Amino acid sequence: MNHPRRLLGITASLRSARRGVAEESLLTELASIENLEQLLEWIGQQSRMHLEQFLEAGRREGKPFEEIYRNLQKLPGNKGLSNSEAALAAALWAARQDGTAIGHLSLSDHFKVSGKVREPDLLRRRLLESDGILLSGPVYFGDRSSLAESLVDFIARDETLRQSMEGRLFGAISVGAKRNGGQETTLIYQMLDMMALGFLAVGNDSDTTAQYGGTCHAGDVGTIHKDRYGIDTSMGVGRRMSHVLDYLHHDHRLKAGEAPRVLFLILQDADGIGLAQAERLTTRLAGIAACSILDLSSREIHRCIACDICPTHVDLDEIYRCIIHGRGDALESLHEGLLHHDMLVPVTVTLRDRSRVRSNYQSFMERTRYLRRGDYLWSDLVVAPLSFTDHPGEDLLPVRMITSLIRHHTVVTHPSVVTLGAGGEPDLTLALQRLNLAVRTAARLTAGRLAATSANNLRYNPVGYILSAHKSLEDERHALRQRMVDERKAQLQREAERRLDRAPDRDQDASA
Ligand SMILES: Cc1cc2nc3c(=O)[nH]c(=O)nc-3n(C[C@H](O)[C@H](O)[C@H](O)COP(=O)(O)O)c2cc1C
Repeated sequence: MNHPRRLLGITASLRSARRGVAEESLLTELASIENLEQLLEWIGQQSRMHLEQFLEAGRREGKPFEEIYRNLQKLPGNKGLSNSEAALAAALWAARQDGTAIGHLSLSDHFKVSGKVREPDLLRRRLLESDGILLSGPVYFGDRSSLAESLVDFIARDETLRQSMEGRLFGAISVGAKRNGGQETTLIYQMLDMMALGFLAVGNDSDTTAQYGGTCHAGDVGTIHKDRYGIDTSMGVGRRMSHVLDYLHHDHRLKAGEAPRVLFLILQDADGIGLAQAERLTTRLAGIAACSILDLSSREIHRCIACDICPTHVDLDEIYRCIIHGRGDALESLHEGLLHHDMLVPVTVTLRDRSRVRSNYQSFMERTRYLRRGDYLWSDLVVAPLSFTDHPGEDLLPVRMITSLIRHHTVVTHPSVVTLGAGGEPDLTLALQRLNLAVRTAARLTAGRLAATSANNLRYNPVGYILSAHKSLEDERHALRQRMVDERKAQLQREAERRLDRAPDRDQDASA
C-alpha cells in the first residue's frame, strides 16, 4: 500500500505558454493522452501552435520584440508549449503513466521582473504539497535562467519552507539551443543548489543512458519536437522520479532492529585521517545504521582498460565481472564487499600537501563500470559523499563524487565537507547531522525497494558502445540474463522476508 505521491512540474522559461489558472489545461490534456505516439504528436502540435502564437503576436509583421512580448502576455495561456515546457510535459506524462499524481506551475507567474514575488503564499503552498519537484528550463550562458535562480532564493530565504523541503526529491530538465550548449552544467549547478536546500537528487532512468536529467537541444520557438532523444531523456526523469517517490512513500518499514547497511568507502586518504574519522562516525551511527568500512586507499586498484566487453559476461551479481584479474589488483577480492548495502558514503581526504595523499579515487570510479553495466547493481542506493580537506572551496571531490555516482542510478544527498584544521579532532557535528538524515532516507528507500512487487528492473542500455564478437551469442546471453534477474528477485524477496515489516501486518497488529 502506498501513499499517493505528488510530483510538481515547474517551468522556468520566460517563453512559457501556459500560465495562471489556464495551467490546469495542461494537466487535463496530459490526462487524455493514452500512448507515446499520441504524446509525440501532441508535443509537435503544441510546439507549432506556440510558434504560430509568436508569429501572430507580431513576428510575421516584423514588429519590435517588446511589442511581441507584450502581445504574448495578453494571451489566455491555455495553449502552445515553449521548448522547456514541452520537455516538462513529456516527463510529467511519463510519471503520470507510472501512477504519480502530477501538478504544474510556471515560475514566470510568480517572479516578476521587478524582483517582486506574486502570490508567494500560493507558490509556497504548491511546493509544500509536493513530494518532489521537477524543474525544467532553458540554458542561459551554461547555467539556469534567473527564474530558476529566483526559486532557489525563494526557498532558501524562507527557513520553514527550506526545512520542509528536507528529504523531498529533485530532478530536472534543461533545454539549450546548441547540442553541447551547457545542458549538463545547468543540471549539475541546479542539483547542487537544491541538495544544499535539503533535496535528494536523481537523474534520469536507463532507457536512454543514466544522465543528470533531461537534456534537450532546441533553439528557436517551436522546435523541441524535433529532438526525440531529448524528449526521451526528459521522460526518463519523470519515470525515475516516479519510481523513487514510490519507494520513498511506501507504508512499509524495516523491522525493528533492522538498520540500513551503510558502506563507508575510503577512496582517498592522507595519514589515515579518512579511516580514523570514518571509524568515529560509524561509532556514532551505530544505533541507527549497520556500518562497515572498506579502505580502498591502501589497496592496489588498477585503472580501467576501457575494454569493449564490460561486464565480461552476464552472470549473478555475486560474480566479479571486470576483465582485470590478479597481478596485484585488489578489486576482485573486494567485489563481495561492494554488494548488499543500502547506502554508500564515499570518503575522500584532500590536503594541500599532495605528497601525503594516497588516492585510488579515479581508478576506482572507472572500475565501477562493470557494476553499472551489470544492470545497475547500485541502483537506488542512497549516496552521501563525505570529504575532509584543509582547503574547502577548492576541493572538487564532493561534486565529482556526485556526478560519478549518480550515474549508477543512485539517490544522492548533499555532500558533507569537513574542514581539517591545524590540530585536534575535526568537528563532525554537521557531517553527523547530514549522515543521520541520509540514513533515515536509506531506511525509507530500502523498505520501499524491498516492498516493491517486482525486483528492480533497471537494465543498462549500452548506448554508444559497440559490442564485441564475444557478445553475439544473444540467446545464451538472454537466458543467463533471465537467470540473473530471477536470482536478484529471489534475493530481494528473501531479504524482504528477513528485513521488512509489511504494512498490512502492522495494520492487523494495530487492530488486534
Ligand atoms: C540569455 C540567453 C542565453 C542563452 N544561453 C544559451 C547557452 O549558453 N547555451 C545554449 O545552448 N542555449 C542558450 N540559449 C538558448 C536557449 O536555451 C534556448 O533558446 C531554449 O530553447 C529556450 O527554451 P524555452 O523556449 O523553453 O524558453 C540562451 C538564450 C538566452 C535568451
